[in-house]
Amino acid sequence: MTITPVPSQPTVEPTSPEEPYLKLEGGYPLRGEVPISGAKNSALAIMAGALLTMDGCRISNVPDLADIRMMSEILDAVGVRVTPVGPNTLDIDARFLSVHRAPYELVNRLRASFFILGPILARLGMARIHLPGGCAIGARPVDLHVRGLAALGAEVHIEHGVVEARARKLRGARIYLDYPSVGATETIMMAATLAEGETVIENAAQEPEVADLANFCRSMGACIRGAGTKTIVICGVPRLHSTEYQVIPDRVEAGTLLAAAAITRSILSLSPVIPDHMGAVIAKLREMGALIDIVGPNRIEIRPGGTLRAVDIETQPFPGFPTDMQAQFMAMLTLCEGTSIISETVFENRLMHVPELNRLGADIRVRSGHAIVRGVLRLSGAPVVASDLRASAALVIAGLASHGTTRIAGLHHLDRGYESLEVKLQQVGARIERVVPNVPTGSLVAQSL
Ligand code: EPZ
Repeated sequence: MTITPVPSQPTVEPTSPEEPYLKLEGGYPLRGEVPISGAKNSALAIMAGALLTMDGCRISNVPDLADIRMMSEILDAVGVRVTPVGPNTLDIDARFLSVHRAPYELVNRLRASFFILGPILARLGMARIHLPGGCAIGARPVDLHVRGLAALGAEVHIEHGVVEARARKLRGARIYLDYPSVGATETIMMAATLAEGETVIENAAQEPEVADLANFCRSMGACIRGAGTKTIVICGVPRLHSTEYQVIPDRVEAGTLLAAAAITRSILSLSPVIPDHMGAVIAKLREMGALIDIVGPNRIEIRPGGTLRAVDIETQPFPGFPTDMQAQFMAMLTLCEGTSIISETVFENRLMHVPELNRLGADIRVRSGHAIVRGVLRLSGAPVVASDLRASAALVIAGLASHGTTRIAGLHHLDRGYESLEVKLQQVGARIERVVPNVPTGSLVAQSL
């Protein structure tokens, strides 16, 4: 078996002394209740889905995140008015939707911006959008999105990094996805809501966020059956109408907080949650020895059991173990008794948190694309830098259980997907704060290290 050296090139961007960082003092248990925000990956898709109607939509329980703000800028660039109306609620008015291309600089920073292609094409018969670039975790191709739209009768050309799709009228089709891609399922489903005739998506993604998007579209009058299963049937309708819709809770934020509780041997209560969205995560935590209780329809409680035991993890499309929870579980497994093997099968480069976790004293090696995590007795605080969104959450989890001070830079990754994570953790007893250097000491915001 070959040993794959951890990549020699830096897996994280160099940081500057002026940038903000999180400072954690590890070793303190947490206690209390944590509120869970709306699901980022649902809200982003639903914001794109709002383009399917010219009547305007009100979307609530939208998390206040950098990605949401970026998506609002992208919608603005194509003539859509996004108006915040109170905390976590957006009004989206797509009456003046245009075929203008959103600027490359915006699209390149937010992969989810590609979700607007299907709705614009379905609404206007023509759409142009820059190909989203890859990102830290992988190449992130969009071939399944493009092939799906072509199957619906669109003429799609890709040139100079721009996807241009045209269709006088989309027509329903039977589409088989080579891979149950979340984004491709959502793109095809949204476009098919306004196509002529019936569309069947086979081998569709079953993630809860796909079902949430389908429920949002149905609330606008779309005819969709089977979302959340491997086969989705959409009967096209002439137009969709306005709606008010509440986004589901974020199962990845909830899973992240469960991992933080388990590694610090804490008692935490989380709500709102939808336990059915967290089956694999709950099962793996119980296999490790954590005590998890489902309290009522939307609350989950975790308590420490005996010593946490090593488990093997293999990421899979839903309902398998979610790739978005892989880094957070790896952080937890560094302190478990025994050796765990983690196989990331969804993205080709989602193990960049390994070197940073090893800086905290973990014992992880990457061999042939699998991470072998040998449990250690303790982690020790150190300065670390996040490489991507879920890696930053993994470093927070590890820092909470490390002896001494941990300093996490690269917070722009964390802020993409977690709403005030450090504040939520502070409120249940974590010694964590966001430090903004060069802000006068004694201010509310920053103290020097
Ligand atoms: C969504 O990304 C999520 N993002 C991701 O969450 C999540 O990790 C992923 O689904 C898997 O669950 C949003 O919903 C905004 P995919 P998406 O298409 O749609 C390959 C986070 O941390 N593929 O299911 O881009 C692709 O390369 C983020 O919150 C193709 O080959 O994921 C990957 O290997 C990260 N061709 C696999 O499928 C395509 O046309 C899964 O991708 C599309 C995808």
